Amino acid sequence: MARAAARYVCQSCGASFPKWSGRCDACGEWNTIVEEQGRDETPRGLGAARGKASGRRIDFVPLTGAEAGPPRLVTKMAEFDRVCGGGLVPGSALLLGGDPGIGKSTLLLQVAARIAAIAPCVYISGEEAIDQVRMRAARLDVAAAKVDLASATSVRDIIASLEAVTSPSVVVIDSIQTMYVDTLDSAPGTVAQVRAAAQELIRLAKRRGLCVILVGHVTKEGLIAGPRVLEHMVDTVLYFEGERGHQFRILRAVKNRFGPTDEIGVFEMGEMGLSEVHNPSSLFLGERETEVSGAAVFAGIEGTRPLLVEIQALVAPSPMGTPRRAVVGWDSSRLAQVLAVLEARGGLAFAGNEVYLNVAGGLRIAEPAADLAVAAALVSSLTDRAMPRATVVFGEIGLSGEIRPVGQIATRLKEAAKLGFAEAWVPRRRPSAASAGKGAGKTTGEPGLAVRELEHVRDLVVAFHDQTPAKNWSPARRNAAPGRA
Ligand code: TYD
Ligand code: MG
Repeated sequence: MARAAARYVCQSCGASFPKWSGRCDACGEWNTIVEEQGRDETPRGLGAARGKASGRRIDFVPLTGAEAGPPRLVTKMAEFDRVCGGGLVPGSALLLGGDPGIGKSTLLLQVAARIAAIAPCVYISGEEAIDQVRMRAARLDVAAAKVDLASATSVRDIIASLEAVTSPSVVVIDSIQTMYVDTLDSAPGTVAQVRAAAQELIRLAKRRGLCVILVGHVTKEGLIAGPRVLEHMVDTVLYFEGERGHQFRILRAVKNRFGPTDEIGVFEMGEMGLSEVHNPSSLFLGERETEVSGAAVFAGIEGTRPLLVEIQALVAPSPMGTPRRAVVGWDSSRLAQVLAVLEARGGLAFAGNEVYLNVAGGLRIAEPAADLAVAAALVSSLTDRAMPRATVVFGEIGLSGEIRPVGQIATRLKEAAKLGFAEAWVPRRRPSAASAGKGAGKTTGEPGLAVRELEHVRDLVVAFHDQTPAKNWSPARRNAAPGRA
């Protein structure tokens, strides 16, 4: 047999090269290429296996016949079930990615405890000893759940053990980076090992009709094989994210063969582990008691749910030739675009100022509808005029300064009214619907919610000049809100 040749594999994307280099040509990441010992994995084609029996006959079936969708294991943890598309699917593989320490093990132990109430569930930890997992379970108050625990890292042992017992319905593997397949020479955590281990476990899942959940750590340095190399192998990819300093955690579906990919689940990390947050809007609104400049409440949509979130901006004179622009929770090139439009079309001057933008609560927003809220926060900070406290804002901004309509306006307005907001700044509706008037018109949408329609960023600037703060606003009113409207 030919000697195993060294290969150089990018730990970020999995591309393999005959020579080491500092930058991966395939994905452009730096310092991710690592030497791996391993057999050449180039497939030899079917001709090579001519000695073997000819292929088995495959049964073809009609396309119709699955109107009801796959059966689901419902964990009754609503935030988790919704992101999965309605529960776990038997015979499928799910990858849960996230930074180390974000709470993946905590979440899955809690999920495993829920599942154990309805179906057999196995939790295999390659990172922690049995006692550590037990202590965590005690802390999470799930120690009584009928979860079968194991501490193991050999995929061969794991599969042999799972084949021997009557199959559990769900197997949690924490984490895939600690697992190894003994036919490969490379170390656990390398792309070759991660891929081989995942392949074996996924094959087991399909064969035995069980749901396998793989935990994958994401590292910015790409030193450990990132879950990215697994994304195309599994059926569902969820990411668990959040800011370290914040207690909020967002579970986000980025790929799902059995459900939508734009749903998020919101959790709060506390002393007793993760608790579900059913009404996230009240959390992502900043904790201001008085009106301040530089803040705007964005009425956004995450998946099927409306979500109100505060956007904060600070525009401050800069002593430096090239002023800083720093963004947390939003796209920085989008910020540059909104700033340019405000300068060129709105007649405002940001040059010579540092600009900081922050989405409250550690949330990341990708919706173009946030443009107008970002612009409002920026104009508010620049002019040092507060937005009226009880006002939400949303709309997309075009390059010519026009404010473009966005989807699901009714849902956004309804959520705002429910939380006690009194006014909304929104894109102007189609000319036929709007009453004749100049610039910004005033109409009413939801009961109790005044709607101010803006057509151009100039209208936004005007709005800050002639808007007086709502006098009847108080924090108590917001807290009393859910029963309203
Ligand atoms: P963990 O689930 O171990 O993260 P991961 O598996 O993604 O690496 O979470 C570890 C963090 O969560 C740790 O910093 C402590 C915190 N934590 C709590 O705040 N409360 C709790 O009840 C638990 C179990 C953990
Ligand atoms: Mg962990």
